Amino acid sequence: MAETLIEDKHLGKEEIYLQILPQLKALVQGEEDLIANLANTCALLKEAFNWWWVGFYLVKDQSLVLGPFQGPIACTRIGFGKGVCGSAWQQQKTIIVPNVHDFPGHIACSSASLSEIVVPFFGSNQEVIGVLDVDSEHLNYFDEVDAKYLAQITAWLG
Ligand code: SME
Repeated sequence: MAETLIEDKHLGKEEIYLQILPQLKALVQGEEDLIANLANTCALLKEAFNWWWVGFYLVKDQSLVLGPFQGPIACTRIGFGKGVCGSAWQQQKTIIVPNVHDFPGHIACSSASLSEIVVPFFGSNQEVIGVLDVDSEHLNYFDEVDAKYLAQITAWLG
């Protein structure tokens, strides 16, 4: 099965999303376990885009707690409204940060991270159950294309 996940590295960003979406959907719809699906989702995204860091935080006990991820070790707990992740949770919307140094309260898990996008995802009662966080070592790396497709991907996880 793993062979089917290898994508063409010469494609543009939107083409890569379009190529991996059906693979990812099939992968997560065939498995009910959330952690297994989060783990495979960030592994596939890391392989497809080679982002600096991609992973999930899950709402537990009034905090975001680190879940499956790919990349360097990261902060384990983030409070409601704190950092980009906690703000996306609080506002229940995707936040794109072109330059993390311009985001008040940004939590620097890695000094190499310069831009990021955080996409909340929702449970059956439309409550935020977690966020997908992607970091880049490049400035201004994420845009509405990422927001659109990452929202599609997270919609399959709730
Ligand atoms: N930068 C995030 C914290 C998580 S790490 O980047 C993996 C934030 O400000 O919420």
